[in-house]
Order: sequence, then C-alpha cells, then structure tokens
Amino acid sequence: METEIVENDKYEPLFESRIAKGRLVYRLFSASIFVGIVCVWIYRVIHIPEGGEYGRMGWMGMYGAELWFGIYWIFTQAQRWSPVFRHPFGQTLLKRYGKALPRVDVFVCTADPATEPPIMVVNTVLSAMAYDYPPEKLSVYLSDDAGSELTFYALMEASNFSKHWIPYCKKFNIEPRSPSAYFSSNLDVSSGTDFSHVKKVYEDMKNRIEMACQLGRIPKDEYHKHTGLFSKWDSSSSPKNHAAILKIVIDGREEEGNKDSEGHSLPTLVYMAREKRPHHFHNFKAGALNALIRVSSEISNAPIILTLDCDMYSNDSGSVQDAICFFMDEEKSRNIAFVQFPQSFQNTSKNDLYGGCLRVAYDVEFHGLDGFGGPWYIGTGCFHRREALYGREFSEAARNELKSDPPRRTRKNVHEFEESLQALVSCTYEENTQWGDEIGMRYGCVVEDVLTGLAILCKGWKSVYFRPARKAFLGVTATTLDQMLVQQKRWSEGDFQILFSKYSPVRHGLGKFKIGLILSYLPYCLWPPNCFPVLCYSIIPSLYLFKGVPLFPQVSSVWFLPFAYIVVATLAYSCAEFLWTDGTLLGWWNEQRMWLYKRSSAYLFAFLDTMLKLVGCSNSTFVISAKVSDEDVCVRYEQEMMEFGSDSPMFTILSSVAMLNVFCFVGAVKKMVTERLVFENLGLQIVVCGVLVLMNLPIYNGMLLRKDKGRMPSTVTYKAIVVALSACTCFTFL
Ligand SMILES: *[C@@H]1O[C@H](CO)[C@@H](O)[C@H](O)[C@H]1NC(C)=O
Ligand SMILES: *[C@@H]1O[C@H](CO)[C@@H](O)[C@H](O)[C@H]1NC(C)=O
Repeated sequence: METEIVENDKYEPLFESRIAKGRLVYRLFSASIFVGIVCVWIYRVIHIPEGGEYGRMGWMGMYGAELWFGIYWIFTQAQRWSPVFRHPFGQTLLKRYGKALPRVDVFVCTADPATEPPIMVVNTVLSAMAYDYPPEKLSVYLSDDAGSELTFYALMEASNFSKHWIPYCKKFNIEPRSPSAYFSSNLDVSSGTDFSHVKKVYEDMKNRIEMACQLGRIPKDEYHKHTGLFSKWDSSSSPKNHAAILKIVIDGREEEGNKDSEGHSLPTLVYMAREKRPHHFHNFKAGALNALIRVSSEISNAPIILTLDCDMYSNDSGSVQDAICFFMDEEKSRNIAFVQFPQSFQNTSKNDLYGGCLRVAYDVEFHGLDGFGGPWYIGTGCFHRREALYGREFSEAARNELKSDPPRRTRKNVHEFEESLQALVSCTYEENTQWGDEIGMRYGCVVEDVLTGLAILCKGWKSVYFRPARKAFLGVTATTLDQMLVQQKRWSEGDFQILFSKYSPVRHGLGKFKIGLILSYLPYCLWPPNCFPVLCYSIIPSLYLFKGVPLFPQVSSVWFLPFAYIVVATLAYSCAEFLWTDGTLLGWWNEQRMWLYKRSSAYLFAFLDTMLKLVGCSNSTFVISAKVSDEDVCVRYEQEMMEFGSDSPMFTILSSVAMLNVFCFVGAVKKMVTERLVFENLGLQIVVCGVLVLMNLPIYNGMLLRKDKGRMPSTVTYKAIVVALSACTCFTFL
C-alpha cells in the first residue's frame, strides 16, 4: 500500500494508551481485604465445632464457600491490577492516510425474521453504510441464516433508501445514522424540508417492510417490480432447507456507476444466505461468519472486518476511523489483531433492572484485560485484521501491512460472478478443510466468538479494547428475567467450556499469555461453579438460624472484625465502582440481586449441562434471544417490575430459596421474641438471612401480591412453598 507519510514529519502516534492512576492505593486496599480473607479462613479452620454432625456439616459448607469466594476474589483483582485506557487520534490518521485508508468490510448476521425484525436489521445495515468513511472503501454484507425473502426484500428497500439517506447524513452531518434511532430522537432540526422529505421516504419504506412481515410474504406489486430477483425462493424454501443465495445488491465499484441522489458513490452492499440442508450441521453464527469471510474475500477483500449483530446499530459515524488508528500506527500496531468495542444497549430501564448493561465488565474489567494485552472478542462491535481471522500466526518478520487492493474479477457478468460465489457457501464447501478448526471462526463452542478471539491470541497476536466516550454500538438487551437467565446460562456455559477446550487459557495459554491475563480470564470462565458456594451461602446460614445454631463469630469476638471488614469494604467498593460507571444506587442494588439470581439458577444449569456434555449425554443448542417483546412486557420493564410469567425451572429454584429464607427469617425472629434467644450469637446470620429476604422482595411480590400477567405462575409458587416448608421441617427434626 502506498503510504503518504510526509518525510520531514515527526512521528506522531495514532493512538495512545494510558495506565490508570491510583493503582498503588487500590493495591493497598486490595491487600487489606486479602488479609481479612485469610483471617476468615483461619477462623474457620480453628473453630470447627466439636460435637454434632450437623453443626459440623454446615460449618464445612460455609468454609468451602468462603474458600471459593476468597480465591475467586483474587482472580477478580487481576482484572483491576493495571487497567489501560486507549485514545485514538482520528485527525492524525486522516492527515497522514487521507487517500490511503484501508478498505473495511462490515458483516451483519441475522438468523430469524420473527425474532429479529427485518426493519431493525436494515437500520443496522444503513447505519453501517452511512459511516463517515470513503464509500468506495466500505462494503456491508448481510448474512441471513433464515434465507428469508422478507429480509431480502427489506434489504432491497434499504438499498433504495440509502440513496437518500447517505447524502442526507453527510450533508447535515447528523448522528446517529440509524434512521429509526435518528427519527425517534430528533423531532425536527435545521435541515427543514430535507428532514421531512427523508423522514417520509423512511416511513414509507418502513410501512412497506412491516406490511410484508405482517403478511408473511412480499406484496404482489412489489414482487413484480423486481421480477427475477425473488426467483431463488420457491415454495420448498424454508429456514432450514434452502439453496445458497448471493446477491450483490449495490456494486460499489466506480465503473458500475451506482450513485446516490447527489451523485456520490455508494458502499457495496451484499446479501448472502448460505445453503442449508437438514442433514448438514451449519455451526450457527460462526458458520455464517466463515461464509461471509470467503464471499467477501472475492468481492472486496478488505483487510479490516467489522462484525456486528443485527440489532447493534452504529451510534457514531466516526468509529471506523477510530478503530483504524489502532491498526495503522507504524510502531505499535503490528501485532494488533482485533479492536473490541463494548456492547452497549439502547433500551435498558433507568436502573437496569436485570443488570443487562454489564457496566462493571465493560467499564472496569475489560480495561484490565487490555492492560495484559488480551481483551476477549465478544462477537459484536469488533474490528478484525482479516489475516489474523484467517488463522495466520503473528510473526515479527512479516510486515503485517494492510493490503488494500480489491480482487480482480475474472467474470465480467455480475450474474455469473454471483453464481460462482454461491459455491463458496454451499453446505459441503467446508468438508475436509480447516475451516472452523484452524481457519476463520472456530466451531464447537456456544461462545464461538470468545473461542476465536483466544485462538487468535494464542497465535501471538494482541487485542485492544476501546471504550469511546460516546457509545459506538447500541443493541437491545433482554427485558424479561427469563430471557436474561437463559442468555446468562449460554454465556456462562460457553465460557466454562472454554476452560476444557483446545484454547483453554489455563492449559494452552500458559507460557503464551501473561499470568495476569490468565487470572483475569478465570472469573468469566468460572461463572458456573459459582452456583455451589452461592447456594450454600443462601441456604445454610438461614436453616441454621432457624434452628438457632450459630455459624459465625459472636459480635463481641475479635473474629467478627474480619467478617465485618470484608463485607463492608467489598460492598462499599463495588457500590463506588458501580456509581463511577454512571450507574444509579438502585441500579447497583438491582445488580446485586441479579448477581444472586444468575448464580443460583442460570449458572447451576450451565454447570450441570456442561458436565452432561463432557460425559457425552447432551448436545449444544443455540437459542437466539428475542429482540422484541410484547407491549405490556415492555411497559412492565419500563416500570422496573420484574417479569416472571413463565413456568421455568430456574424460577422454581429461585422461589424455593426465597421462600426458605423468609420462613427461616420469620421463624428466627419469632423465636427471638418469644424465647428471648441471645441475639449476639446469631447476629451475622440474621443479617445474612435478612439481606437475602430483602433481595428477594420482587419474588415475594410476584408470588403473592401481583395480579398482572408477569406475576409468578401459581404452580411455581406452590412448588416453592412445598419445597421450602419440607426443607425447614426436615431440618428441625433431624
Ligand atoms: C448516541 O449518539 C448520540 C449523538 O449522536 C448521543 O447523544 C447519545 O448519547 C449516544 N447514545 C449513547 C447511549 O451514548
Ligand atoms: C427495545 O426497545 C425497542 C424500542 O426502542 C422496542 O421496540 C423493543 O421491543 C425493545 N426490545 C425488547 C427486547 O424489549
């Protein structure tokens, strides 16, 4: 690639990395907590109760849980040890590489027009097409795993609309560039008639697309307008059984003369549905991305690839430039394989009822991973170096430059060309190849993105985490408890599987990764086994309290101090951290509740599933989380009312534990009042049980008070009461 560095210019970096301040203070604080933890461990060892099997069993349970929490806590400290913050210099990039910017391919994946409405998908596509980047260097690919003509139709409509939309965006320099987000947040602006014109064109398009989706087919007149285009779809096509379809909707090459309404070039736009047959396993999203990698290599072959989920529109038209800075710095970029942006969400409620924003992970922990050179690839909002994605090893010797020539097309005729590309996305193409194993996205894991990122890092590359002040990509988050727990189950299960995989950070990463990085990965990989200590802690102290057997030191004992210090210090710190990430106090409380719920239900199932899979009893499944919900579900979410509604086994566990806690708490308080039991012995236990009851208030409310559709189903309530009552009675008489 011809570089245009002006000779006598001093080297100016394209990005800088700042290490967080105040690390020493933090480390001292952290050391003090560690001392507290060790004291607790010592206390447990030297105070094991003598007689009574039961007292002893409970004690050992608590000891095991505290041992686990302490060790796990040490891993989370690695994530906070030396966080790094990145700042790209887009202006320097433009000055230096204005005409020689690399080409960029954007991959958007969708899988089901019912849960991922085509109008949402095309909004994401349009926001990517409107990037503030030379259009002839930008190509957008949509993979439609359902092979749905509705999605294709929506994309055709969007390609027409883009001819109005892109010039409008650039003329008035508007943000955000997803039309739906733009029109819903801007009532009117200085652009006057242009605004109302574009808005009308958008509304018309939206109506046509939504009409088609309601009908479930393309309206007749539209169908005839584009005769020939829909010929690939016949009555036998279905999401699981259809031929490969590849269509270059907009050919952005100069000679093709596709121009917008102002006469400027347009980005290339491609629709792809890989072939699906019932007897061929398709490897979910990873399979789709690999198909896109192959197809794009023949069409645009950009050295940089951005992968996006279909619900994640771009909220900042400058993100591509920002990301490119990390790949183009002459001194520091050579080994950077991918740049991960945080996942942000547009429709979370004010206090983030289900903790879906993952604030602490994205605002704190990922900076820590970055400090050790290895933030994860989380599947969306990530810019990749194509060659690293191909599985190439990093080598100091290679020049690793971003080659930017588009491939020459041997076939002139665009139809022939499209036909020839379809062979690349047939179901048999990958048979007896290294795809999914050594090349491209790696298969065989429910979090294929994380696995692929690790595989790249294992080849000697580094990754970068960049969190811009203005959110770059906005998606939708789960808005019911069930959706959230199911998603958490999948993630935690996937991250746990990674530990046993070929790219396990512990086995494979030793010697390749810094120790700090391996430790920083562990808290994510070890989510599922967390369920046991958390269940211990939420059941044992309550049951023993009910029976009046103490498990913690007396309030007047010196051993009480380390317990109190750890609890107060870690809670205060976590609250401060949460507020620092712009959360609210109530948001923090909600997050603590979700911390409990995820661990006592989703992670338990994830753990059991993983074990079943390891012994070969179960297959992986991939559940797409719905991106739309009923009207009244949305209203309840807005009001931050927890949504139960379904008869999920996860809810049975949560409500049984919740019931158990309230029975024990009430029982203990009653005993204390009537029998004047000594409070001092059981002080901490009452606090633990009381806090659990407070956390579970939404469950009691959902079981006993609420009348709306989102309340806890009565079958779950009955089961929970029976389980909790029998547990309490059995325990009393044992
Ligand atoms: C999205 O971008 C707009 C500016 O275009 C900004 O006002 C808004 O805060 C951004 N959204 C988020 C969630 O950061
Ligand atoms: C997210 O918000 C949009 C409106 O902004 C809504 O249409 C959509 O249903 C919401 N998604 C979910 C999962 O509730």
